[in-house]
Amino acid sequence: MRGVFITLEGADGCGKSTQAALLADALGARGREVVRLREPGGTQISEKIRALLLDPANADMAPECELLLYEASRAQLTRQVIEPALARGAVVLCDRYYDSTYAYQAGGRGLDEALVRRANLLGSCGVAPARTLVLDLDPALGYARATSGGADRMEAEGLAFQERVRAAYLRLAAAEPDRVRVVDASGEKNEVTARLLVELEDLL
Ligand code: TYD
Repeated sequence: MRGVFITLEGADGCGKSTQAALLADALGARGREVVRLREPGGTQISEKIRALLLDPANADMAPECELLLYEASRAQLTRQVIEPALARGAVVLCDRYYDSTYAYQAGGRGLDEALVRRANLLGSCGVAPARTLVLDLDPALGYARATSGGADRMEAEGLAFQERVRAAYLRLAAAEPDRVRVVDASGEKNEVTARLLVELEDLL
């Protein structure tokens, strides 16, 4: 594959969506085709799964059901959009991918790590990001920001859950320093974008 697969990660409210847009503009300005995606979602099927996952009415969803729905949404997005985009040489910028499942379903929920890794292999169809940027922000700040307009089903898990999510991301970055880079997400948004671009220079 000639394309470059980049993922953005972080706990809720870390500013990922804003940064995904700014980063996509910056990469596009370099003349690359940029395909911007977010998980869960990005295909008709995946968006339907997203609605199931985030609906606060589904408070009784079993953790195993949750895990498999995230993976199902991912498999469809990978086969339908990500693989073809990489094959034609695009930069694919995805807001969340399988590291979210590691951080939220293993870290946050406490599902067995080895099981989650196996599930991630299936859901991603074996397609791995070349670089993963973790936006790191004080979880209390992020959580307040994310829930100011109401909480979805995941956000309703509370601040302690977000703290476990952050800890899982930091463990991942320590274990895979080549791929996973932690970037300070505090401060002015253009400064954060510049920090992210530094971590991509060698790939572009
Ligand atoms: P979203 O509103 O897109 O949140 P954000 O803007 O913070 O990315 O909702 C996605 C939610 O789903 C978010 O709380 C993280 C969670 N999630 C998982 O728990 N596991 C996963 O594998 C993925 C992709 C997301």
